[in-house]
Amino acid sequence: KQALNIVKIKKMKQDANPITVITAYDYPSAKLAEEAGIDMILVGDSLGNVVLGYDSTVPVTLDDMVYHSRAVARGAEHTFIVTDLPFMTYHGSLDETFRNVRRLMQEGHAHAVKMEGGAEIAPTVHSIVQAGVPVLGHIGLTPQSVNQIGGYRIQGKDEKDARRLIEDAKALERAGVFAIVLELVTEEVSAAISAEISIPTIGIGAGRGCDGQVLVFHDVLKYTSDYREKRFVKTYANIGEQIRNGISEYVNEVKTRAFPAEVHVFAAEEGVIDQLYG
Ligand code: KIV
Ligand code: NA
Repeated sequence: KQALNIVKIKKMKQDANPITVITAYDYPSAKLAEEAGIDMILVGDSLGNVVLGYDSTVPVTLDDMVYHSRAVARGAEHTFIVTDLPFMTYHGSLDETFRNVRRLMQEGHAHAVKMEGGAEIAPTVHSIVQAGVPVLGHIGLTPQSVNQIGGYRIQGKDEKDARRLIEDAKALERAGVFAIVLELVTEEVSAAISAEISIPTIGIGAGRGCDGQVLVFHDVLKYTSDYREKRFVKTYANIGEQIRNGISEYVNEVKTRAFPAEVHVFAAEEGVIDQLYG
């Protein structure tokens, strides 16, 4: 199977073929997502929350993103990979921004980068796109600005906010993004945006009118010890509980000497190397 590209991704909107996206942060998660048939993988800076244990995405560095993106690329060799530019890595000089984008693509092996923001970052987006880099936009709730927004709340609830979001989406489309993530936006506003622009919208907590959906890997699978229910998430497994139970059983079996058993040990006459696998 060949990786998608931005031409095919844009065509999926025309074909009314919903675009499926999940985040991934390492080799096994990326490989499993690819095997499950996902269209696109996002190496999100949400890794700050779900993998690194921070309480926001603000502390995530470019080095963190490069490191995790590389691992994802090794796991999902046939999947289109978008990697987040983290906090404050695309607001300085264009030189510095280009250097950071280059690292995500050349060292992180990303096929595209994602940037949070609307009309105010459109000139930067335009320059990056002109340099040949596919850019995914991201408006609505933009977690890198959480300290300014003052919390994680639904966007587009009043007329003025709704109009601004639609204008931001159009500005990003003109700047050349290939698609736009809409995060925590009312269903009415995200449907309006999806109708008014020709590139795909990919929603998270943005309702049924989007051209695709994205969710965080750890949310989809309840891969955490302290899952907090979120209305916009549907969980499809409970990996956290399975992991805790599995490790607890291992601990118990070592304590009671049930593990290792006879099948797990090497006897001198069998030859160690031949017996390693299987
Ligand atoms: O970092 C992330 O996981 C994201 C998605 C929520 C869109 O940006
Ligand atoms: Na993100």
